[in-house]
Amino acid sequence: MIKLAIFASGSGSNAQNIVEYFSESNDIEVSLILSNNSKAYVLERAQKLDIPTAIFSRDSFYKSEEILKVLANDKIDFIILAGFMWLVPKYLVEAYPNRILNIHPALLPKFGGKGMYGDHVHKAVKEAGEVESGITIHYVNEKYDEGNIVFQATCELTTSDTPETIAEKVHALEYKHYPEVIESVIQKSFKNY
Ligand code: GRF
Repeated sequence: MIKLAIFASGSGSNAQNIVEYFSESNDIEVSLILSNNSKAYVLERAQKLDIPTAIFSRDSFYKSEEILKVLANDKIDFIILAGFMWLVPKYLVEAYPNRILNIHPALLPKFGGKGMYGDHVHKAVKEAGEVESGITIHYVNEKYDEGNIVFQATCELTTSDTPETIAEKVHALEYKHYPEVIESVIQKSFKNY
């Protein structure tokens, strides 16, 4: 069994979708959901889904390597970021080389970087008058949204779209593609599991 840990800071609808997708799998399971935010709704979702959780502080994340012990305890093979707001520190990138994926709710390299998260992204897309948006799934390195891109999918936008309707279109793409892309990346990186 390949064990996944999901990092999420907010609602966690993607986290839930990923847990549900792999709940039938014989090869891959979500073993742990981690959050930097003790009030995040993702923690309630995790409880309902019966997935163990871990909460960590900024100091423990950036000034210690405690989280590596937590991940090692659960024998985590692969990390999924799903609405995780903090920059991943070097020690964690190095401990999981090409084994951390993120999803960004726009077509990188446009509309990425620090501060470009959640509704800020969709507002910026609207203000720029884009005719399409979409999702980008990429490996994680030490810079926001700059790791190698694995997959993109697009949706058309019209002038009547608002940041809210753009978010809905993008979320639909996230739910449709993220679990399958995770599965295919894992199948390629762990050939003999
Ligand atoms: C998603 O749009 C994801 O792409 C972005 O943050 C949002 C998280 O939504 N990074 P949710 O918490 O999964 O509902």
